[in-house]
Parts: sequence; C-alpha cells; structure tokens
Amino acid sequence: MAFTLPDLPFDNTQLAPFCSKETFEYHHGKHHAGYVNKLNTAVQGSEMENMNLEELIKKSYQEKNLGVFNNAAQHFNHSFFWQCINPSASKTPGSKTQELINQSFQSLDNFKAQFSDTAAKLFGSGWAWVVLNNEQKLEILALKDADTPIIFDKKPIMTLDVWEHAYYIDHRNARPNYIQEFWQFINWDNMEKLLS
Ligand SMILES: [Fe+2]
Repeated sequence: MAFTLPDLPFDNTQLAPFCSKETFEYHHGKHHAGYVNKLNTAVQGSEMENMNLEELIKKSYQEKNLGVFNNAAQHFNHSFFWQCINPSASKTPGSKTQELINQSFQSLDNFKAQFSDTAAKLFGSGWAWVVLNNEQKLEILALKDADTPIIFDKKPIMTLDVWEHAYYIDHRNARPNYIQEFWQFINWDNMEKLLS
C-alpha cells in the first residue's frame, strides 16, 4: 500500500511568527510531499512495498539503502513533527512531562535552554529531538540529516526540524529566532500523551 501525505493537524495560518502559511505550503506541501512521493517510487515493486514505515526505516538503515532510508525517515520525522506543534495546545507541560523534565534537566527553564542550544548548534541540516531512553529518562539528541531516534532504539517524544527549509522563508538565516518562537507553539499535550 502506498504511503500518503498526512494532513496538517492544525490551521496553517495560526502559527506565525514561528511559521507562516507560506512556510507550511512549501514545507508540508512540497518538501514532505516530495519525500512521500520518492519513497513510494523507491519501494514500488520491491519486497519493501508492504512493510510498515518503522520496519522500512530500520531495514533500509541496516542495509545502507539510503535512497529508501532518507525518504522513509524524512516521512516519519515530518509526520511526527506536525504532531509536536499546535496553536491550541496547553501552554505548560503536563504533570508527567514536568516530572520527567525535572528528573533529567532539573527545571523547565534548563530543559528549554538545553534544547534550544542543541537545536541552534546542530551544524548543517537535521533535527533536535527529545527522546525516552531505555532507562525511561528523557534525553535531548541532535541528529543529522534524516536520522531518527527509532534507529537508535529510543522512543521519540518531541522534535524540531532545523533544516533550513523549515525556517528560511520566515526567518532567513536566523535559526535562533525560529527556535525562540517554537516555544509558543510546542504541543505539550502530545508529549504528555506519549509519556503517560
Ligand atoms: Fe523539514
């Protein structure tokens, strides 16, 4: 069964100045759609055609099949990212999220500072992630290009896309401004759901 582009789970006009409608039209409608189309073309007629997305990501990574891996992982990463931002979400973390943040980062301010710093310093293209590790603790990861926590057996909890295509229309080269605005739209409710 072919992979499909998911709809955005929010009104794309409601996340400025973090991301404008124009950014979403390109980021979701062109970039994410492009990964889905290339993935479908790459697996068509092969044994991978009927695998689910996570199986496909792990198998293509192990086999160093980058033509499949990059598009499959970017489809996963973008689909996940759209769940991590929402203009209607709670403006503070839920109780489980706050408890795990305190455990690993001492305070919400520390957590936000460390995540922002990781996202700002990631060289080139990639993703800043919050993951749950095997000890059930939160960690912040900077992953390059299409790399995704599931290939490292970590559970993704939250992510921010720091590829230039995510912010260049609205913020030009000022990635720190994009990161700063992100905190207004982070979907704390999604994190709480994944951690509960
Ligand atoms: Fe992206």
